Amino acid sequence: MARKSFPLSKVYSLLEPGPVVLVTTARHGYPNIMTMSWHTMIEFEPPLVGCVISNSNYSFGLLRVTNECVINIPTVEIAEKVVGCGNTSGAKIDKFETFRLTPMPASEVGAPLIEECYANLECRVADTKMVSKYCLFVVEVIKASIDTTVKNPRTIHHLGSGSFMVAGEKIKLKSKMK
Ligand SMILES: Cc1cc2nc3c(=O)[nH]c(=O)nc-3n(C[C@H](O)[C@H](O)[C@H](O)COP(=O)(O)O)c2cc1C
Repeated sequence: MARKSFPLSKVYSLLEPGPVVLVTTARHGYPNIMTMSWHTMIEFEPPLVGCVISNSNYSFGLLRVTNECVINIPTVEIAEKVVGCGNTSGAKIDKFETFRLTPMPASEVGAPLIEECYANLECRVADTKMVSKYCLFVVEVIKASIDTTVKNPRTIHHLGSGSFMVAGEKIKLKSKMK
């Protein structure tokens, strides 16, 4: 078996945690969008999600103050906009305008949904114990909605260094998870 050492700095690319998402926040009527790939489910119900949001991001401050966000799940059709939102700061530009994304009012939180995303999860911060050490927010999904016209959502998954995997084939196996 041929094996070689793998750089520790790239381990994250082996364990990509799920679809790249767009996190929206808003304050004083000004919404923002940031791209996030480091997230993980923590609990089935109520659904709890761990989100790593760096304190160097403009979104960090908005989430800290408002305790609300929306996790929007995009598909490959808007991949370039997703990367654009991850390479720019809401402190300098209006990303909805720059990337031609459409804000829609959420029902439970002040942050907007992104219309072009196939699923939208309205969230409230549930636990901030690990924010100062790891920038890890635990958020609770309090309302979820999906676009029923999207039959086979091809989500994008970050592999690092500008590479993405597009979700594809679906298979069914017996499993003990819910
Ligand atoms: C594919 C991709 C994934 C990213 N994942 C994360 C992440 O999980 N956590 C994070 O803090 N930043 C992540 N970023 C970086 C932020 O999206 C980026 O710093 C962005 O400019 C923050 O926007 P803001 O300053 O408007 O909040 C990612 C960027 C890209 C392109």
